[in-house]
Amino acid sequence: MRVDVAFTPDESGSAPTGIVIDVIRATSTICQALAVGYERVLCTAEVEEARMLRDELGEGVLGGERNAVRIPGFDLGNSPREYEEPAGSTLILSTTNGTRAVVTAAARCERVLVASLLNLDALVEEARGAGEDAIVVCAGVQGTLALDDAYVAGRIVELLGWERTDASEAAARLAGTWNGAEEAFRASKSGRNLLENAPELEDDIAFCARESVLDVVPRLVAMRNGAAEISR
Ligand code: MLT
Repeated sequence: MRVDVAFTPDESGSAPTGIVIDVIRATSTICQALAVGYERVLCTAEVEEARMLRDELGEGVLGGERNAVRIPGFDLGNSPREYEEPAGSTLILSTTNGTRAVVTAAARCERVLVASLLNLDALVEEARGAGEDAIVVCAGVQGTLALDDAYVAGRIVELLGWERTDASEAAARLAGTWNGAEEAFRASKSGRNLLENAPELEDDIAFCARESVLDVVPRLVAMRNGAAEISR
């Protein structure tokens, strides 16, 4: 079995299993929300799509961010610590890079799994169980490589122990250069954006740096009007 890594969603490459990562913070939030009892997360690329989806459904908690802060009129932001208990059964989430990466992966992989550090072991076990080649799709930051996602991609590559491409070898080697996740996250563009735009949410970094504390493996179950429906 082979594992590849796309450091940004626009890089070419495909595999039957797509593993999406936006560790600071969208995919950490998706894992946390489903772990505490939301039944599904509808990921939209655009803010307006999220609002329209809620109007259509007549229900749903609106969550998400732009520039790391809660979108005006939304119920919740993108801090996983805001998702300690469900405020409804459906979460409609729109974030700058992460939800867009989920939608992109849905268009090019047969199976899409959502990764974070929070669910690392469970995710790796699920990907291994699927028994097909995988590609880790990193959300990055506005089309560029982000060190936080590359770190988690490297951890996934290490744990899978499969044949590597140059990109997955690079991710695994990069992960080994940090003294742990939090150091990598703080050094990354995603971490720095969070600290600059929402310094009061600094604790999100340590929260997202915890490894294998959740056993959920969120996966794509359907597409709804351009939104990716994720469930556990
Ligand atoms: C994103 O989707 O770009 C991130 O989740 C940004 C954030 O930290 O909220």
